Amino acid sequence: MRGGFIREPATFFCYISPMKPRLLTGLQPSGSLHIGNYFGALKPFAALMKHYDPMLMVVDYHALTTLRDPAALRQNIIDVVKDYLAVGVDPKEAIIFKQSDISEHTELAWIFECLVTVPFLELAHAYKDKVAKGLEANAGLFNYPMLMAADILLYDTDVVPVGADQRQHIEYAREAASKFNRAYGPLFKEPKEKIQDEVSIIPGIDGKKMSKSYGNTIPLFASRDEIAKAVMSIVTDSAGDMPENVYAIHQHFRRKEDLEPLYEQHKGKYKALKEALIEDIDAAIAPMRELRKSITDSDVRHVLAEGGARAKVRATEKMRQVRNAIGVTI
Ligand code: ADP
Ligand code: TRP
Repeated sequence: MRGGFIREPATFFCYISPMKPRLLTGLQPSGSLHIGNYFGALKPFAALMKHYDPMLMVVDYHALTTLRDPAALRQNIIDVVKDYLAVGVDPKEAIIFKQSDISEHTELAWIFECLVTVPFLELAHAYKDKVAKGLEANAGLFNYPMLMAADILLYDTDVVPVGADQRQHIEYAREAASKFNRAYGPLFKEPKEKIQDEVSIIPGIDGKKMSKSYGNTIPLFASRDEIAKAVMSIVTDSAGDMPENVYAIHQHFRRKEDLEPLYEQHKGKYKALKEALIEDIDAAIAPMRELRKSITDSDVRHVLAEGGARAKVRATEKMRQVRNAIGVTI
């Protein structure tokens, strides 16, 4: 435990616990999590968490930028938490919580929005890519990086495991911290991204970045049939011997030394290579899929209630300091 908790009389014993750096990430409940989310964020989070003070969010207010279906959002929130638990994130170790349960996130985002300029936000690649893909350019989508900065900075986060597509968003968070600190005094820590080197951006079945909002995913917890359907529809270039898009996904499921002979042996035989990929994805996912079946909606509600209460303590204290610093407390 660390600083924020030390101030709580009930947790005085935390003085003697070694302080661990804080690890935090979040995924949007805008659809079923996919293998890009797994390799880009969830797996690194689960692997790193024992060395950190870990916090894992469901960023449901971010999902509102692209999703306007209450029933789907509700279901996605439950599903995403089940996914967190099924990949091995222990809620006793990590604080698992929902962004919308902690109103301090949106409050802090507003304060950051007043510190950054429109031209600065216009430089965001993720915003431009989403609009280019036909998503509505709503103001929430535009301001998205400042809500994300608030998610991170509110908890004095040290390290943020994310996929390579989020690098710029972490830079935005650092910039928000530095702008605030220059204006009002040093209150925020500048976080660092943790991007797995060997995992860059996993392509979707259309060859573009795999994303819930682009309908081009291989879902993480799909049945074998669903995996087969998605893999069989991976777009391949008929010109060469090597189905680049299939290989780009396959390299996350098999070591390079094993993969190269396989692709050599089946040179030009795209169907056989896709079948091998289906086999490998299914074998990797099957144990987690089994575990996931045992997790109930009520488990999810319980985990979120507990995680929300723990996150709220931290957020309340930080926002008290922020309100003081900006001059709204009199
Ligand atoms: P999506 O684009 O599918 O909606 P999110 O924006 O919720 O996904 O991203 C959640 C996490 O998953 C982020 O850390 C992001 O970098 C990572 N991620 C998303 N898509 C990919 C991908 N195709 N390859 C690698 N990481 C990804
Ligand atoms: N923007 C991230 C994404 O699309 C999701 C996110 C929101 C996030 N807030 C965060 C990730 C805070 C890490 C930390 O992937």
